[in-house]
Amino acid sequence: MSPAGRTALALAVLALGGCDRMQGGSTVAAAPENAAPSIEAISAVPLGDVAGPGKTPAPAIQDNPYAHNPQAVQQGEDLFVRMNCAGCHGYGAKGSMGPNLTDHYWRYGGTPVQIFKSIYEGRPQGMPAWNPALPPNDIWKLVSYIQSLGGTFPASAYQAWVQGDVPGTQFSPETASTLPADAAKAKPRNETATSSPAEARPDPGKTP
Ligand code: HEC
Repeated sequence: MSPAGRTALALAVLALGGCDRMQGGSTVAAAPENAAPSIEAISAVPLGDVAGPGKTPAPAIQDNPYAHNPQAVQQGEDLFVRMNCAGCHGYGAKGSMGPNLTDHYWRYGGTPVQIFKSIYEGRPQGMPAWNPALPPNDIWKLVSYIQSLGGTFPASAYQAWVQGDVPGTQFSPETASTLPADAAKAKPRNETATSSPAEARPDPGKTP
């Protein structure tokens, strides 16, 4: 290629790069619906319970790209045994040296993306980081399996969970009735507990 041609090419590449940056996009083609969220978006999601609910801003909701996919649940269960998650969390994930992953208590947050992050990044009290040993898709399948065990919070309930509830417990019954069916079926942990109807927020999205 001639020097002029090379310069033109370099300029074209620069222009493209600048354009992408202006739109905040990546160089990857538009993501198909239900594609896995980018690791950058996932990294921006704050930690769950340990950060304190009051200090935790609602993250952009990153749902599991394998949501409602029974095959992914099965593959996640296989991985859970094959990667020896079960060795620490127990077969059935009910806990042993590692915590129970089937209840509503989450040290680091119980929405799908927060669980993804716990697996991807590892956690200080003995949880190994599985990046890069496991590709993100396999981690999402593990999340699918853990979601199938019933203790997680649906991503859509995150706001209610942050604002209306004791850290580590489910949203109030009043809030639950305003959530999608899959959210409401996870029963509030402490139905007798403190929250009164006045504290429930039927419109959690409106207040900053
Ligand atoms: C060496 C033992 C060990 C292995 C192997 C292990 N974990 Fe863990 N895991 C732990 C411990 C201990 C914690 C708690 C860490 C903490 O509190 O800082 C934990 C925490 C977690 C959490 C966060 C729980 C919460 O309450 O927020 C998730 C999710 C999790 N592990 C999933 C997995 C998955 C999936 C695998 C397999 C890919 C796995 N773990 C493998 C020991 C392990």
